[in-house]
Amino acid sequence: MRKELIEKFSAIKTPFYYYDLELLKQTLRAAKTEADKYQYHVHYALKANCDAQVLATVREHGYGADCVSGNEVKCALDNGFANTQVVFAGVGKTDDEINLALDNDIFCFNCESIPELEVINELAAVKNKTANIALRLNPNVDAYTHKYITTGLEENKFGINAHELDDIIDLLKKLLNLRLIGLHFHIGSQITDFNPFKKLCSKVNEFIHLFEQKGIQFEHINVGGGLGINYKEPDTQAIPDFKTYFAIFNELLELRKGQQLHFELGRALVANCGSLISRVIYVKKGINTNFAILDAGMTELIRPALYQAYHKIENLSSDDKRNVQRYDVVGPVCESSDCFGKAVYLPETKRGHMIAIRSAGAYGEVMASNYNLREKAIGVY
Ligand code: LLP
Repeated sequence: MRKELIEKFSAIKTPFYYYDLELLKQTLRAAKTEADKYQYHVHYALKANCDAQVLATVREHGYGADCVSGNEVKCALDNGFANTQVVFAGVGKTDDEINLALDNDIFCFNCESIPELEVINELAAVKNKTANIALRLNPNVDAYTHKYITTGLEENKFGINAHELDDIIDLLKKLLNLRLIGLHFHIGSQITDFNPFKKLCSKVNEFIHLFEQKGIQFEHINVGGGLGINYKEPDTQAIPDFKTYFAIFNELLELRKGQQLHFELGRALVANCGSLISRVIYVKKGINTNFAILDAGMTELIRPALYQAYHKIENLSSDDKRNVQRYDVVGPVCESSDCFGKAVYLPETKRGHMIAIRSAGAYGEVMASNYNLREKAIGVY
């Protein structure tokens, strides 16, 4: 992270999120260039980060919006995303959320169960509307990522399983206020091995074929998100390998003529542009280690506590490589899991030093809580 930022940061109350909008733009351009090669549509997954500046930057680069709650749908629309570019997913859409999306004529509902299809149909009928829907299918592909962010296995709550398809096809004939326009998949998040995406492609091909045999063709196929980032090397590998990622789908998916392919990327677009900036309150001697106690905690960034996630930690105030020491870098919250990293080697770290926790632009600020009645960390650009 650039040292000249320290001066800029010195007047700002820590902890706060810093977003490098220049890196964000480079990342968005890189992904868009690769997706445009094949005329693919990319919807940004708002759940990763809803900061207004981040959203404005994403929208200006021509992305649609992937939402998982009524408030996210509202947030996307309020921030200028076109209603025709909004998709709405989630296993538990409430009536109010569905009504909001119907009133705004969003592009598509990604539906995950029979009762959900019935409710959307009923609510659309009241409004005399026809809702575009895609079926979210569970492809039973292991993403080999953390168990809490794996979604495409039969044991997960997400998606419709293959054995229900005949019932659903019969039912859809009766649900006259629904228009089936596509299939939707999402196998998990922080996927850094490309093989699960390759497996997903062959499953999608099988499903396209299966539906064709039943006389159903789709205009749209949505393969979700999940492309991971390199948390270890946020500077040397700041931008994910979008080229290989999109090329895999181009090579392996057997799309039919006119069929459009959609993606829902979150983390890969925004994670590396964000850092949580904090100050050391105390350095405390432990039995086997020293604790660097920060003014940021799991309330600002819960990923290490929740998923044992690694985030690179840097001391912005010192780069004295001759005097490196080992620290457990922890927050002030009354939980032992409030720890950003164990046995982290940093230049000798002192009270008042500024610490950056890197790659926190995705699932950072949006997952914050006010546990211990802590204040919300602001975004800085
Ligand atoms: N589409 C659907 C249906 C999703 O459930 C998700 C993420 C995405 C797209 C975007 O996935 P991405 O491209 O960002 O991997 N809080 C966790 C991640 C949860 C992901 C939830 N779904 C974390 O901090 O790692």
